[in-house]
Amino acid sequence: MKVLVVGSGGREHALAWKLTQSRRVSEILVAPGNAGTAGIAENVDVPTTDLQGLVALAENRHIDFVVVGPEVPLSLGLVDVMQEAGVAAFGPSRDAARLEASKSFAHDVMRKCGVPCAASRVFTEFETAQGYAATLEPPFVVKADGLAAGKGALIVTTQREATDALYDILVRRVFGEAGDRVVIEEFLQGKEVSLLAFSDGEHVAPMVPSCDYKRAYDGNRGPNTGGMGCYSPPGFFDAAMVQQATETVITPVVRAMAAEGCVYRGVIYAGLMVELDRIHVLEFNARFGDPETQVILPRLQSDLFDILESCVAGTLTPESIAWKPGCSVGVVMASGGYPGHYERGKVISGLDRADSDVVVFHAGTRLDATGRILTDGGRVLNIVATGETMAEARDRVYSSVARISFADMMYRTDIARREVS
Ligand code: AMP
Ligand code: GLY
Repeated sequence: MKVLVVGSGGREHALAWKLTQSRRVSEILVAPGNAGTAGIAENVDVPTTDLQGLVALAENRHIDFVVVGPEVPLSLGLVDVMQEAGVAAFGPSRDAARLEASKSFAHDVMRKCGVPCAASRVFTEFETAQGYAATLEPPFVVKADGLAAGKGALIVTTQREATDALYDILVRRVFGEAGDRVVIEEFLQGKEVSLLAFSDGEHVAPMVPSCDYKRAYDGNRGPNTGGMGCYSPPGFFDAAMVQQATETVITPVVRAMAAEGCVYRGVIYAGLMVELDRIHVLEFNARFGDPETQVILPRLQSDLFDILESCVAGTLTPESIAWKPGCSVGVVMASGGYPGHYERGKVISGLDRADSDVVVFHAGTRLDATGRILTDGGRVLNIVATGETMAEARDRVYSSVARISFADMMYRTDIARREVS
């Protein structure tokens, strides 16, 4: 099988890496990819939002199967156009991807099927939104309804902050069209877990759970990022909790989507807030998480291609998917300044000095004309180690991280620390 992976981040490197282990996959193309995917696959320089360009690539190169990484091409309908062109593609249709692309749509679905989520209301006018916000006791959460690259949720602690957030989204339109509507939401307490599941539209198979570190600096300080590290599994979210979340959150939503004629095939990612044994949904994503995928796929024992194919065909058999026991920890090495302004083009050294059983996933990297690997984004690398225990995985990952360097690099030193103290 010839597979095309769409995207250029650590998630896509991890997907391509796992697909190289499939006995069914003979060739992998990545569009546009990075320096890491260049080492295991063929990069093709087509942007992820160029739907027609990607269809042409799939047709010209006789691609059998497309795996879509990021949310933007999904919400633009890349899976729909691939299927119209007769190319099998993994991921939800444009309509089904609204589960991520519109927070108010996701809330409506959850409300209809009784899935626990924060109480919320939707507004389009600044004055009405502010009038409602004035009746609430902070903290609460103000969110742009649409896709805002992970930056659209603002936790406000004063009325002044609430007014500013609503003004920024609805009047100054800092998130553009994503802020046509704003969601004002109750603040939930607890610990966050990412639970991703495969879905063929009817059956769902949860993956191993993981925790993402969204803040830039140690101790969960600093601005929100795309994710600075991740580990699996969280000690506070055991197999019984996975089952509970699958039964009370993921399965009802997949059924509700099907009942509305909007069959959901692909990865359904539930961002959950857990307090004791109570589980609430913070958000849904319509794709593999980044950096979650980088710690999840090293724990997958089964053939990833078989699973993806069965999701598209509607023949997913959850009981046939096997996971390795043990733990995994992933640390993101980022450019200094990220998620704000940062420089690109720094030479990365020490990549060959990582332990052989540690995986170095690339995110924002590129090759220069002489074959050197340079930084080319905010999140540059994602170093991942597995171990029988979290302490072992953690020691392994940080010992390899210490041997890799580039100018102005930054990384968190506390990924998974709470699991080993
Ligand atoms: P979202 O873009 O909806 O995933 O939100 C980004 C981050 O904001 C989440 O990972 C949480 O840390 C936080 N957050 C979002 N919604 C809530 C909420 N209702 N209560 C508390 N924290 C939230
Ligand atoms: N790690 C968060 C996300 O993929 O949206």
